[in-house]
Amino acid sequence: MPIFAAKTALSVDIKTRDYTSAIQEFQKLLSHDCILTGAEEKERYGRDETEDLFFMPDIVLKPNNTEEVSRIMQICYEHNIPVTPRGAGTGLSGGALANRGGVVVSFEKMNRILEIDERNLQVTTEPGVITEVLQQAVKAKGLFYPPDPSSRGSCFIGGNIAENSGGPKAVKYGVVKDYVLNLEMVLPDGRVIWTGANVLKNATGYNLTQLVVGSEGTLGLVTKIVLRLIPHPKHDLLMLVPFNSLEKAGEAVSAIFRAGFTPSALELVEIDALKIVSRFVDSAVVPVTDEMEAHLVIEVDGNDVDVLMAEMEAIGTLLADYGCGDIFFADDAQQKAELWKLRRRVAEAVKIDGFTIEEDTVVPRANLPALIRGVKALGKQYQFQAVCYGHAGDGNLHVRIKKEGSKFSLNNPEVVPALRALFQLVHELGGTISGEHGIGLIQKEYMDIVQTPASIELMRGIKKVFDPKGILNSGKIFD
Ligand code: LAC
Ligand code: ZN
Repeated sequence: MPIFAAKTALSVDIKTRDYTSAIQEFQKLLSHDCILTGAEEKERYGRDETEDLFFMPDIVLKPNNTEEVSRIMQICYEHNIPVTPRGAGTGLSGGALANRGGVVVSFEKMNRILEIDERNLQVTTEPGVITEVLQQAVKAKGLFYPPDPSSRGSCFIGGNIAENSGGPKAVKYGVVKDYVLNLEMVLPDGRVIWTGANVLKNATGYNLTQLVVGSEGTLGLVTKIVLRLIPHPKHDLLMLVPFNSLEKAGEAVSAIFRAGFTPSALELVEIDALKIVSRFVDSAVVPVTDEMEAHLVIEVDGNDVDVLMAEMEAIGTLLADYGCGDIFFADDAQQKAELWKLRRRVAEAVKIDGFTIEEDTVVPRANLPALIRGVKALGKQYQFQAVCYGHAGDGNLHVRIKKEGSKFSLNNPEVVPALRALFQLVHELGGTISGEHGIGLIQKEYMDIVQTPASIELMRGIKKVFDPKGILNSGKIFD
């Protein structure tokens, strides 16, 4: 029963494979409902949230535990079958897509939180747990796992490990890498290792844990995750600050940190994005006026609410020097939730509005105004419309692009020169081309701008050591 791989523009090395004997082995291992081969049932595994990419997998497997993942890899290794690991499919760089056909290993059934160790402030979890579910489970014990990508209500913690995800809280608390202590991982040939130990300090040879975090599922399949936790702060305050100049808003960001404040979130949303998302979620919480160009969403958190109030006031006073308008304080949990909903759903809203390409630029924080200026200038030069939003406190600006009459899609010759110019600018400003979404399929074209040939060669070498046959998620990050 040969199953034919989808023909796609990129899938140059897809050949028709005979899966007959591999499928017989999968059937010995997994129940019927954990092996998908029909087009209709596989369809949703062919997409993620990246533009309009689609790669139909030949087979989708849903293992229940490490032993099954290990056996799947042994079988695929023996039969030279490409394997693509997949979390919830919320990725923005194509990392979970089967660009070479073959097997997609979906972690949706490995969704148990295994242990919350309150004595050591750690949690051990399987990769298929939804990030927000994990956050709520530890919060119930007074503990905090801060990394919170916008998709936290649907993304899996395993995918967050693969991409080294960030989110709004990263500005104070750091990104995923800052919380991962240890990973159980199945290597491409089926061997199982732990990358580190469940300890806060570790100087025992190469740091395999940190090598695997952010490796986009190219080195192994993560099957258990040990995360460090911190006590949950008791209070947070949130405000929305309008600016009549986008650039001034960008300048205000670094001024806040220079004045000694570390907000727990410092997000920027350009006015067009705010208008679009307000319509999209049908919210009137923010009075959107035409003289404003951008808003900063600023949150502080801690255990003493009086200290936080004083901090918010001091930040407000400082921002007056940057031409801010009337500040809107979120008074209660409902208003806070409404504001965060607006911020978190920007990407989805502007995509539907036609801003289909999302870039994940990041520069040193103080260079944010120069980046914003540059984006607007490039828009004029290459005739695209751009909206900016994102994690301004980290210098991590998402730039969404729309070009009337032209479909912005992967490797579209109308797009590549504009994106090269954007990334060249980011590089000149001391930044890089992805802060939290990864390279995957869509940014590898631009890796030469920010990585030397020697660095890429080293990465290829590392890949080869882990995956000599190149069966695991190959063609991501680099060819
Ligand atoms: C965000 C995602 C797209 O910041 O990274 O909304
Ligand atoms: Zn983001």
